[in-house]
Amino acid sequence: MFHYGVDYYPEHWPEERWPVDARMMAEAGFNVVRLAEFAWSKLEPEEGHFDFDWLDRVLAILSDHGIRAILGTPTASPPPWLMAKDSGMFRVREDGQRVTYGNRREYCPNHPLYRDHSCRIVTAMAEHYAGHPAVLGWQIDNEFGDRCYCPVCRQAFGDWLAQRYASLDDLNLAWGTIFWSHVYNDWVEIPTPVQTGGAPNPGLALDYARFCSDSYVEYQKLQVDILRRQCPGHLVTHNFMGFRYDQIEYYNLARDLDLVAWDNYPRTQWGMGADVDASAPALGHDTMRGLRGGPGGQNFWVMEEQSGPGGWQMVSVPPRPGEIRLWAYQAIAHGADAIIYFRWRTARFGTEQYWHGILDHHAQPGRRYAEVKQMGDELKHIGEIIQGTRLRPAVAMLQDYDARWAFQIQGNNPGFAYPRHFQEVYRALHARQVGMDVVSPMHDLSSYRLVVAPALHLVSPALAEKLEHFVAQGGVLVLTARSGVKDPANNVVNQYLPGLLAGLAGAHVEDYDSLPEGARVGLEVELPTLDRALTLTFGEQAALNLPCESRCATTWCDILVSDGAQVVARYSEEYYAGRPAITLNSYGKGQVVYIGTLGPAALFDALAPWLLALGGVQPVLRVPAGVEVAERWQGESSLLFVLNHTGQAQEITLPRAYRDLLDTGKAVDGQVTLPARGVMILA
Ligand code: GAL
Repeated sequence: MFHYGVDYYPEHWPEERWPVDARMMAEAGFNVVRLAEFAWSKLEPEEGHFDFDWLDRVLAILSDHGIRAILGTPTASPPPWLMAKDSGMFRVREDGQRVTYGNRREYCPNHPLYRDHSCRIVTAMAEHYAGHPAVLGWQIDNEFGDRCYCPVCRQAFGDWLAQRYASLDDLNLAWGTIFWSHVYNDWVEIPTPVQTGGAPNPGLALDYARFCSDSYVEYQKLQVDILRRQCPGHLVTHNFMGFRYDQIEYYNLARDLDLVAWDNYPRTQWGMGADVDASAPALGHDTMRGLRGGPGGQNFWVMEEQSGPGGWQMVSVPPRPGEIRLWAYQAIAHGADAIIYFRWRTARFGTEQYWHGILDHHAQPGRRYAEVKQMGDELKHIGEIIQGTRLRPAVAMLQDYDARWAFQIQGNNPGFAYPRHFQEVYRALHARQVGMDVVSPMHDLSSYRLVVAPALHLVSPALAEKLEHFVAQGGVLVLTARSGVKDPANNVVNQYLPGLLAGLAGAHVEDYDSLPEGARVGLEVELPTLDRALTLTFGEQAALNLPCESRCATTWCDILVSDGAQVVARYSEEYYAGRPAITLNSYGKGQVVYIGTLGPAALFDALAPWLLALGGVQPVLRVPAGVEVAERWQGESSLLFVLNHTGQAQEITLPRAYRDLLDTGKAVDGQVTLPARGVMILA
């Protein structure tokens, strides 16, 4: 069964309304709700007094309408009586200030008393709902995050370090504490990297980021273990935050769960532009799918899918008619096996009064209800067909949390941000209609033809060896500047950059220029014609003549020396005019492209067709700009999702006859018109 539903807060509304809500949900085609993830004060109004009666009554009503539930463990938002017990449970921010009560996520994940109370409420809920037929599974907490720098964490950090390093001598050596006389004689001397300590030792700061991430993984595991023990048949997940969130090593957080779920908001008050860049949610989906599973990743759930204008203080641009359905189908196209909207009815009170749900405050069905109901009707017919299909991309992008943290500690250039750079490269490839996995560098790469690793900053000998093997076997690897700069301890390597990857690149960095804001250094680009038996499917000749706005480097210029690699681009200005900027090296049966700069986005856009052609990767379908194509497979047959993200109808030329599953299986062939924000699922 395809899971389709909504996040529901019955505790916000009078009980007489619950049957009406359940009926309307069933009429919209919903078969699942998420409940109770912020209901701790209703579930345990006073310490030790649990009240599950209200939740039992809600579940009974929903169950009568064929709807089952994911229950949230309510630990993201503790009740005041709990936090009044010990102010030490409040998190300390990086600026050294302790947060106070009034929002959510106030707690320190390492505090023993908070952990005890978390385990108590989770145990009580798990015991009560273990055999409940209407309960499908659990979401642990809500959107884990926020580093804590409190004394409890400082102590736990010392213990964590003692596990990681055999001795203090090893730690001192690894961090290079001889610099500025920071040599530690006792574990208790080691500080947390709070802002009052100034710019921290990069080794210490990276280890602290790793420790904070491990703290949440461990805190989540406490809850997972209880649920596994009490409710062995239930699925257990957490709602992640896509690509944009970068304080937890999500590969580790995903490890102990059954599946990854995430919260997808393409347009909120924090990004008020009228246009949604469709590659942003696409990157979120691909990143989430890549957190578990081998090639192609593991399909995921969307636990919160935007269903209205999102806002706390401001009201964001509302989804235009058709967008809620379009974004939900985009999620499915990228591997979602469940769509759960946030939220059923817009709250009349509390911080999120303006975060709109499917229904407005007045609860009368409107255009957004009609749109999700339309999709509910469609899923009744096609849900089973979609279920079980998976993605099979030939391209992978390597995303590394250690690199993200190292760049948080030392940004390298004010014009550079790893997530933005990553997204620009992703967007350039995504615009060419190729499926992509976004995976950890340690992922199995054997099924990919093209692996793109933007600014792969920290490289261990094991990783270098793995990449060498991938290329030697015939893969194409693309690296950008600031790759191979650091070892896993966050120290700069002792050799020419890109360090352990220099042999693969067939080139090394002799010198580099960190550019001031707005500076551009001209490039002369001569992309080699491909010697593969491939026509230039993507760019044809256009790719060989880069448009002039892309013929420059911004932010960073690596001044390269070829050690055998072919020079693809040279700088045409500055003291390094004539020196190589981009190289192409043959290594074993494969090839390595080294792009010695970090921008502009237009450069990656222009290079994308050539890179894809090098990897022998074909577009799924040729479509106009703003139309996205993605493919889900089962055996040898696939479903082609064609998504029009523009506000205008688009003409698509189909190379063969298909059936459009969203249009009663109607046969389509040749030229078809896809309405503004329309979707086709072709089989
Ligand atoms: C999510 C969160 C929800 C709700 C929503 C709107 O990030 O999980 O609880 O707060 O944002 O702000």
